[in-house]
Amino acid sequence: MKIEIRLGEIPGRISEIFIAEDLMERIPDVLKKSLGTRSAYWIWDETVWGLWGDKVAGRGWPVEDNGRVILFTASEPDKRLASVEFLARRMVSAGANRDSAIIAVGGGVTGDVAAFLASIYMRGIPCFQIPTTLLAQVDSSVGGKTGVDLPEGKNLLGTFQQPRQVFTDPRFLTTLPDEELRQGMAEVIKSAMIGDEVLWKFVETKSDAIKRRDLNSLARIISASCLLKSRIVQADEKEAGARRSLNLGHTVGHALEKVTGFRLRHGDCVATGMIVAAELSNRLGKLPAEDLQRLEAICQTWGMPVRIPSSIKCDAIMDAVRADKKRIGDKLHFIIPERIGKVVEFTDIAQGEFIEVLQSLGAT
Ligand SMILES: NC(=O)c1ccc[n+]([C@@H]2O[C@H](COP(=O)([O-])OP(=O)(O)OC[C@H]3O[C@@H](n4cnc5c(N)ncnc54)[C@H](O)[C@@H]3O)[C@@H](O)[C@H]2O)c1
Ligand SMILES: [Zn+2]
Repeated sequence: MKIEIRLGEIPGRISEIFIAEDLMERIPDVLKKSLGTRSAYWIWDETVWGLWGDKVAGRGWPVEDNGRVILFTASEPDKRLASVEFLARRMVSAGANRDSAIIAVGGGVTGDVAAFLASIYMRGIPCFQIPTTLLAQVDSSVGGKTGVDLPEGKNLLGTFQQPRQVFTDPRFLTTLPDEELRQGMAEVIKSAMIGDEVLWKFVETKSDAIKRRDLNSLARIISASCLLKSRIVQADEKEAGARRSLNLGHTVGHALEKVTGFRLRHGDCVATGMIVAAELSNRLGKLPAEDLQRLEAICQTWGMPVRIPSSIKCDAIMDAVRADKKRIGDKLHFIIPERIGKVVEFTDIAQGEFIEVLQSLGAT
């Protein structure tokens, strides 16, 4: 499958996403055509290089070409400016110039750092992405947000730069640990809740196949999620409106990550955040109780937390929500589901109601 995201008024500003089960071996050839005379600099997640390096890069690519393959130890603490400088200096010493391009291979950490570097290296060079986690395949490689963290918060430095091309092969996920798969599944479930009831039903019935990495099922959920995100990004690249719907579950999700010092994982927190949003919506007379139950059931199938740990205080969540950069003025603004497959933005949620929901789900 090929998805094209056409951006803005400028003809030719297109980001292409290729999704196929037999893509991996073909990437070097496609890339060579796309790159033309540009020299390529590969930034690989070190773990992924060990698992998949020869399969992708070994095929007709000059891996031995010293310096063109840069390994990166990708973990969230490495998503910082120091890594950008480290990688930039490796690029300079290996001869990268304005006619070079970066190819990022790995999960969201590698993709965000490498794409950020591409967007500022000699004032910007093209970036290509080969996402290897489910989260990166359905979320971070699509839409052009790049960035690094600061000690004060996640993703506080960043740019928008669309990848020229994204190459997504579900086979990468055969080596992905279950826990990482679950983090990506939370974003898939989010996509389904935002705007794809068919995808929702697919996940409801095919979770076992997805868990055993059935490639057809994986390709199906990745394609549907990418299609949904790309449509939203095409309509609102810089998050002025429609793109905010992608934040479903994320306001509370980010707050839970923050108050637990990032001990709880992002996808798990988003799942709980979606349940908070769904519960709130149900109390506001919008989301039917049956849809709320279906959300809880699907999260439980995947082992995602559907309750807030009792050690977490409502006040701490409220403080973190208020500090969230996505807040608009003084109002709590939330994306809430109206039904499976449809969300709305709600800006005047009473604080008392919100706290009641947090308490009903276990916060103290
Ligand atoms: N740019 C965006 O729009 C956007 C959207 C969502 C998330 N993000 C960012 O993405 C990051 C999280 O991404 P992530 O969950 O992919 O984390 P990650 O890049 O840290 O990868 C998770 C782990 O999986 C390993 N791994 C990667 N591919 C593998 C494979 N095929 N087999 C075995 N192991 C593999 C990695 O080495 C790492 O240990 C966060 O920093 C988040 O802020 C960005
Ligand atoms: Zn997310």
